[in-house]
Amino acid sequence: MSACALPYDTVPGALHIGCFQHNRLIGVGSILPDPRKGATQPASWRIRGMAVEEDARGTGAGRKIVEALISYVEQQGLPAEVWCNGRAHVTGFYQRLGFQQLGDVFEIPGTGPHVVMVKTLAPQ
Ligand SMILES: CC(C)(COP(=O)(O)OP(=O)(O)OC[C@H]1O[C@@H](n2cnc3c(N)ncnc32)[C@H](O)[C@@H]1OP(=O)(O)O)[C@@H](O)C(=O)NCCC(=O)NCCS
Repeated sequence: MSACALPYDTVPGALHIGCFQHNRLIGVGSILPDPRKGATQPASWRIRGMAVEEDARGTGAGRKIVEALISYVEQQGLPAEVWCNGRAHVTGFYQRLGFQQLGDVFEIPGTGPHVVMVKTLAPQ
C-alpha cells in the first residue's frame, strides 16, 4: 500500500518483519545496511519502523521482532553492529535487549526526543 511506503523499503539487503497473533498483525520492524556515523564495526545495520499495536505491548512481540532482525544480521556475517535512533521514552526496551545508549538525547523535528542505541555483535 503506497500510504505505508517508506524510502528505505527497497534498500538492497533490507528485511521487514511482521509479528502475528491469531492471524492479526500486531507488530512490525525493519533492518537495513546503513553505516552509523562513527561506527566501530565493519558492518552497521539500522533498525527502523519498530512498532507494536498499543493493546499488544508488553507481551514480548517487540523482543521477538528485534531478536529476529538480529538473527538475520548474524546470518549476513559478523562482526557487526545494530543501531537505531530510538525514541527517548523506549530506551529501556532497547537496553533490555542488550543495546547501549550512545551520546545524549537529541531532538528529531516533528517526532520528539531520541537517543542512539547500539548493540555490537561479535562472532561466537
Ligand atoms: C517500543 C515497543 C516497540 C516495545 O514493544 P513491546 O512488544 O511492548 O516490548 P516487549 O513486550 O517485547 O518488551 C521487551 C522488554 O522490554 C521492556 N520494555 C518494553 N517497553 C519498555 C519501555 N518503554 N521502557 C522500558 N522497558 C520496556 C519489557 O518490560 C520487556 O522486558 P523483559 O523482557 O525483561 O520482560 C512498543 O512499546 C511500541 O511500539 N511503542 C510505540 C512506538 C515506539 O515508540 N516505537 C519505537 C520507535 S524507536
